[in-house]
Amino acid sequence: MRTPFVAANWKMNKTLPEALNFLQAIAGKLPNQAEVEALICAQSLFLSQMMAVTKDEPIKIGAENVFWHDQGAFTGETSPKAVASLGVDYVIIGHSERRKYFRETDEMVNNKVQAVLRNGMRAIICVDETMGQREANEKVHWVVSQVIEALKGVAIEDADKITIAYEPSWAIGAAAASAKEAEDGCYLIRQTVADMFSDEAADQVRVLYGGSVKPSNQAELMAMPNIDGVLVGDASLNPDIFLQLVNYQQK
Ligand code: PGA
Repeated sequence: MRTPFVAANWKMNKTLPEALNFLQAIAGKLPNQAEVEALICAQSLFLSQMMAVTKDEPIKIGAENVFWHDQGAFTGETSPKAVASLGVDYVIIGHSERRKYFRETDEMVNNKVQAVLRNGMRAIICVDETMGQREANEKVHWVVSQVIEALKGVAIEDADKITIAYEPSWAIGAAAASAKEAEDGCYLIRQTVADMFSDEAADQVRVLYGGSVKPSNQAELMAMPNIDGVLVGDASLNPDIFLQLVNYQQK
């Protein structure tokens, strides 16, 4: 059985005091990690403070990106080795905003996935689909090829360290995909993992949906057989809404 996963992607939001206030507001109100795994991915510059204040809480703190080299002359980049040294477990890789604004290619995404695994962390790989690709009926091609390219060279033993998020950019900060459409994307991802690795690996890997998830559409999405969780941007910035998202089973 795959543990349901609710992951927040704060993007480039919140100052350190705002992040710490948020964590104070959710303290003591989080579900048991065995029932729902909760994660907040935030800007790297205050991950260590966020980890320190949540060390006794059932929540994980993750990064939103890392570079593919462990160290060296790469001014302004974030070292995966340095992030791992904080005790960070999860890193989002290949978010559509990084693909769009920073021209991240499938090859860069693959290098970053390798860097995350090499440093003992887990990757949440985002698979994008634009409105143009959706309208041209290119979903299958795009989703499958991004998964194949991102996982190139990944050993089957590391399959359990991979989470893949179906995040059509047409649904981010807009109108969410229907549960059926989100399920179709997640099913495609799981089938691709089965083809590349094995049915067992595909059974283990967690597949998330992201794009305008809110407490009002979360339960329907998470009831789908291939959707193990959600990756949430906007709605995760408010502590009350975040608590509703992680405690969705208690409703
Ligand atoms: P959204 O963002 O929930 O604000 O649509 C999701 C994401 O970009 O991960």
